[in-house]
Amino acid sequence: MDTRVTPNPVDGPEASSGISRWPDTEQLQRRFDELVKQPMRPVRADAMQKVQRYFDERCKTSKALSERAKTVIPGGVQHNLAFNHPFPLAFSQAEGAHLSDVDGNRYIDFLQAGGPTLLGSNYEPVRRKVHELIDECGPVTGLLHEYEVKLAELVCRHMPGVEMLRLLGSGTEAVMGAVRLARTFTGRKWIIKVGGAYHGWSDQLVYGMRLPKTGRMEATGIPRGATGHTQECLPNDLDELRRKLSWNRLRGGTAAVLVEPLGPESGTRPVHRDYNRQVRQLCDEFGALLVFDEVVTGFRTGLAGAQGYFGVKPDITVLGKCLTGGYPMAGAIGGRKDIMMSLVGGIGTTTKRAFVGGTLSANPLSCVAGYHAILEMERTGAAAKAGRAGDRLCQGLEEIIRRRGLPYVSYNMGSIVHLQTSGVLLLDTSSLWKLLKVKDEAKRRKHMMEEMGAAYTAHGLITLAGSRIYTSLADTDEVIDDALNRFDDVFALV
Ligand SMILES: Cc1ncc(COP(=O)(O)O)c(C=O)c1O
Repeated sequence: MDTRVTPNPVDGPEASSGISRWPDTEQLQRRFDELVKQPMRPVRADAMQKVQRYFDERCKTSKALSERAKTVIPGGVQHNLAFNHPFPLAFSQAEGAHLSDVDGNRYIDFLQAGGPTLLGSNYEPVRRKVHELIDECGPVTGLLHEYEVKLAELVCRHMPGVEMLRLLGSGTEAVMGAVRLARTFTGRKWIIKVGGAYHGWSDQLVYGMRLPKTGRMEATGIPRGATGHTQECLPNDLDELRRKLSWNRLRGGTAAVLVEPLGPESGTRPVHRDYNRQVRQLCDEFGALLVFDEVVTGFRTGLAGAQGYFGVKPDITVLGKCLTGGYPMAGAIGGRKDIMMSLVGGIGTTTKRAFVGGTLSANPLSCVAGYHAILEMERTGAAAKAGRAGDRLCQGLEEIIRRRGLPYVSYNMGSIVHLQTSGVLLLDTSSLWKLLKVKDEAKRRKHMMEEMGAAYTAHGLITLAGSRIYTSLADTDEVIDDALNRFDDVFALV
């Protein structure tokens, strides 16, 4: 199997898309290896005390609230992405590129709700349309609304692989539905994912999460049978994918290959530039459906998603996050018409179908928000602008890292910026023996990542778990330059 890397196109059509340049994955891999080979470079212990003082002295209201939360909410937080070291901060205001916590501290918002708010937080033109809709019919009727159709038409117009759309409640639900749909359409049972990828928390996909080849490591409370037909391949390993597809052919066949098109965990381990095209070819050869999980990449890497960027058409596309511009209930399955017809809805349906649905699915509130958010993304060129902000941030971070002689690695795919300081997600877990070898180290590196995140927060920067950054349309050059000065201050503490 040909796994060569195609050369990085420097300019060309990518210049106007959400991603201006694909990272040199081979060079990155060498840097990842160097990062995890050397001792950690955390914030110094004396500087961490200052960080702790920030939380204790400037975040008293958050602290009290987090104590209250702990008594009624397991772990004190409801969101997996909520930053909770040393304790979670509570936020009361969000506008554009900034957030304010309940103690009145202001931050640059690089979490952007985990990705959905490509237009920036609390974007006024969309908010206005939502208000109008709520005044007219409230958030939900359970019946057809014109905005459902308008949103579906808009998505079908932009996404090359989407001819029909079924709206659901979340990315997790949509992935679950996509797998059921693929099994219904193909009559096969196996699904193959890429190790380390996140596809939500359904029983069948809490498998090989975060770190490749970790299989059922996180599958607490999930019976073996539920993951019994899930398999994982190493990132970028097309030979392994071919072997699994061949083997499955002898025992029930592969219904679907699921990929996060940038690479697992939103490109934490980036794929080779040609990877998706080669996966497409393998799927065609073995009659498996190709599922692109575009929950993060949909609209963020451009209106045509990662499928537009890579020029690869999946059979099924899973959407979420940006689909409703940050408003609730973001999830959808899109795809080829012949496949999608196995998702026919409605009470009177008699055709054989994969059953999916939900009381609040496709509610008018989510649909009006999604429709106008995508129109605004179109009008403003949000993906490209946020992408250029990501480029500027990443270049600046790399300059600081070089100047300070740190082993850290920053790289980006447009508005998705990775900042690896502890390298916890880059440890080699490709075999059981290697996994056991790095288990304790992973704990230490994870703690370092938490401390880095806390240090960023104390310097007015909210990130995703201390290692990922989402930029938005609201990130002007001034915002990015302000952020870079703050990152420089944090790196001075190492
Ligand atoms: C690639 C990917 N797929 C699926 C999901 C699950 O989406 P949700 O959190 O809306 O259930 C996520 C969430 O972060 C994701 O990143």
